[in-house]
Amino acid sequence: MSDREQHKWWQTAAVYQVYPRSFRDTTGDGVGDLQGIIDKMDYLSDTLGVDAFWMSPFYPSPMADFGYDVSDYCDVHPMFGDLSTFDQLVACAHEAGLKVIIDFVPNHSSDHHPWFIESRSSRENPRRDWYVWRDPKPDGSPPNNWLSVFGGSAWELDDRTGQYYLHSFLKEQPDLNWRNPAVKAAMLDNMRFWLDRNVDGFRIDTALFIMKDPAARDNPPNAGGSPHLHKSLGAYDAQVHLHDQGHADVHQVFREVRALLEEYEPPRMASGEMHVFDWYELGSYYGVELDELSMPTNFGLLEAPWTARGIRGVVDGVEAAIPQRAWPNYVLGSHDDERLATRLGEHGSRQAAVLLLTLRGSPTLYYGDELGMREAEIPPDRRQDPWSMTEPSLGRDGCRTPMQWSPEPAAGFTSAHEPWLPVGGDHAVRNVRCQLLDPDSHLNLYRRLLSLRRGSAALRTGSYLPVDRVPPECFVFERSQGTERVLVAVNFTPEPLSIDTSGFAGRIAVSTHRVSEGNEVGRALHLLPYEAVVVV
Ligand code: NOJ
Repeated sequence: MSDREQHKWWQTAAVYQVYPRSFRDTTGDGVGDLQGIIDKMDYLSDTLGVDAFWMSPFYPSPMADFGYDVSDYCDVHPMFGDLSTFDQLVACAHEAGLKVIIDFVPNHSSDHHPWFIESRSSRENPRRDWYVWRDPKPDGSPPNNWLSVFGGSAWELDDRTGQYYLHSFLKEQPDLNWRNPAVKAAMLDNMRFWLDRNVDGFRIDTALFIMKDPAARDNPPNAGGSPHLHKSLGAYDAQVHLHDQGHADVHQVFREVRALLEEYEPPRMASGEMHVFDWYELGSYYGVELDELSMPTNFGLLEAPWTARGIRGVVDGVEAAIPQRAWPNYVLGSHDDERLATRLGEHGSRQAAVLLLTLRGSPTLYYGDELGMREAEIPPDRRQDPWSMTEPSLGRDGCRTPMQWSPEPAAGFTSAHEPWLPVGGDHAVRNVRCQLLDPDSHLNLYRRLLSLRRGSAALRTGSYLPVDRVPPECFVFERSQGTERVLVAVNFTPEPLSIDTSGFAGRIAVSTHRVSEGNEVGRALHLLPYEAVVVV
């Protein structure tokens, strides 16, 4: 039996995140669209060589949070196309051998969603309980101390009906009440709508938020600092988010979602966005019987100190803690995080490419990271992200700028005079057209890694074994499957290093430093400063 038959497709697939607003604009309005993704399908399947892509929201939305405020779960925003463009996109992806994963936003709708309009219309409305409403405290203040991720209280007073509604994000994003069986049934039906249109899976937005403490107890204070290493969420980090998310009842919902996905043949998948850095807890969301999320998203590498010890700590921790037959996954960038190449620099982002595509687990790449795109400078008058309005240092526009296809002024993204966000200042160099011509480019490194991975059962599905007797600033591990063995070594220092590799003979198939490729490896492996290699 081949590894592809033994493993589910999402375990062997390299996934690419497309942010539709910024991928390719075909209508000239400065905003990307579904047709743009269709037009670039061969880039994904052939030029780059990924196996699947997930798309951030394209649903009708007032765009208070750029599509994460959905006003109709079963349609396409006219700015992106329509349902027939969507159907074409899925058909075209499947023809190219690509799986399609869509973003599903279950925790909150837009305040323009007809359900919320009804819900807020009166206390007696049958949809009142579809959202989370509570009475004020006797002094008129919010019902408890829960905070919005985007700043301020998570409660908004509705003057007309005299109650507060909960919004874990913007006040334009009221939280749905998943404890109401009618809400759950309606949301599962919304998923079914897309499954019937042949999507291969969902990325579930803020998956843990859907179940909160039914008694709405206050969160306790946090003395431990931010769980996010590369950013602080300010006042939000002053609490332990014990009661406003992640209630144990979420497991039951995940089981029901999984059961729905398993109704389809072949079964569909769900990843779940969660910022959980306790690996046992992360592992719990696969389900004891592996009957919950296919991939609880692991942001561990994105948060880890970029050192041999930091990375190995995450990988070994995850390997040890997740259920036995569960499959790890790794992410290094997203539309919510500072660009990978800005966080880690040139060397670090190349090492990251090697690690992401060789560790045991499903990799997700964020669009543009394959070019080493840097975080873009956004002039204050071009800011779009609502978070940058409340806290400029947390603004996410810099990682959401147009995909850089070519060195032209609009980077080949749009014919509009001004795209919705400015094109990154590095587009003259970091673009697909120029990088394809440069064998040493980031893009060509990713292409070589993806092609090696595609042809290697050891890399796709093999075991993971860390190698211990190496210098402390080196992370070395072996992947093997049957008789195939692959050695991966990363030198985190600015000095050359040698590693004892007796017992492993091979040649460097891919390196961050192309000059080493093809070198034979005998009893020792010589690594250049900051070099990461894959030896086969
Ligand atoms: C997580 C998404 O990734 C982010 O972009 C969004 O703002 C929040 N969830 C709210 O939906």
